[in-house]
Amino acid sequence: MSLQGKKILLGISAGIAAYKIPLLVRLLKKEGAEVQVLMTQNACQFVSDLTLATLSEKSVLSEIFPKSSQVSPTSWTCHVALGEWADLYVIAPATANTLAKLASGLCDDMLTATFLTMPATKPRLIFPSMDREMYRSRSVQRNMLQLVEDGCKIIEPESGELASGLIGEGRMPEPENIMASIHSEFQNMLQIDRLKNKRILITAGATREKIDDVRFVSNYSSGKMGFALAGEAAKHGAEVVLISGKTYLETPGGVKRIDIESAEEMFEEAKLYFEWSDVFISAAAVADYRPEKKIDGKFKKTTDSFELQMVKNPDILAHFGEQKKRNQIAIGFALESSDHLKHAQEKLIKKNLDVVVLNSPNIDGAGFEVDTNIVTILSKEGDIQEYPLMSKRDIATLILKKSSCFFDKD
Ligand code: C5P
Repeated sequence: MSLQGKKILLGISAGIAAYKIPLLVRLLKKEGAEVQVLMTQNACQFVSDLTLATLSEKSVLSEIFPKSSQVSPTSWTCHVALGEWADLYVIAPATANTLAKLASGLCDDMLTATFLTMPATKPRLIFPSMDREMYRSRSVQRNMLQLVEDGCKIIEPESGELASGLIGEGRMPEPENIMASIHSEFQNMLQIDRLKNKRILITAGATREKIDDVRFVSNYSSGKMGFALAGEAAKHGAEVVLISGKTYLETPGGVKRIDIESAEEMFEEAKLYFEWSDVFISAAAVADYRPEKKIDGKFKKTTDSFELQMVKNPDILAHFGEQKKRNQIAIGFALESSDHLKHAQEKLIKKNLDVVVLNSPNIDGAGFEVDTNIVTILSKEGDIQEYPLMSKRDIATLILKKSSCFFDKD
């Protein structure tokens, strides 16, 4: 796929790897992309704006406020126009300082201000690059996590020799590899764009089943997978309703969120959207059972033991599967402790699903609470695809790509 006509913002901050960016600009231009370079003042120490302006065939922008000799009525609002104009924002190299600004919404130059004017539905690819210990520092890691939560894609730096002489992670990928990431981003967009204007209902997080007024039965689900799905789907123009259990996560941009506590509440809310939805993705860890009767007030500690009678909760996904029309898509998750594939395949059939995402809680870095997962995706056509450890956001892209296959190109 060529980049003909694609509009790319290229943000350069002051890492030594900036010296490789002119080559990236050449590669982008060769494929027909329009490139607007935004550069921090300090980045000009590493690479000349004249080189970048010549290669990109556009003036390089650094300051929000233009020099008085260059003022035109629109020149100081040009960061707003650029956010509207671009199809993609690439920031490479992204230094610790720039990551911190982007994560906290500071905007004191063109690179950072334009970042804020990019609508949340447009992709942002960030390539952190710095020395090993800086990269490992808690603040850099925290800021990267924040940016991922905000819907950006962080491409991890490569490991190798660093400018300081240290060896470790922190190297910016070579321009050819940055190009590969840009291509794969546009490829994903092309496929997932079939979900544009489709209505997607997503459940996320753990339900809480009350024992008394202060205690409940629940599980470790954080809601991260469901929120990543909601954010990615909205980014690609889908209408998204997200029904969520209690979580500290922020609602992704463009998503309508409904908060619930129990499985029964989730079921009641979900039913209201069953007819409406083109796709139902059930990412919630719904409690299978709830206490039969909630005790009024706080249960007193008067006996050595007590019994809690549990009754079955409604299976929300199975209900959707039962009543779904031919053109509605149902996607479920499976978390199995044994006979993984066999149970996932059974679930696919029993709940009348189109796709099942199987994950296992027994592997490091996968399952509840963490930002990564290892999944196998099974579809009703019988194909089974295993994937390595990936971020939940990348898994969300995979799942949405899979569901977009069910819709024709408009
Ligand atoms: O049958 P099991 O609970 O293992 O199936 C898991 C899938 O079913 C998940 O997608 C989960 O969100 C959904 N589910 C549901 N309602 C329940 C239990 C599970 O929608 N009561």
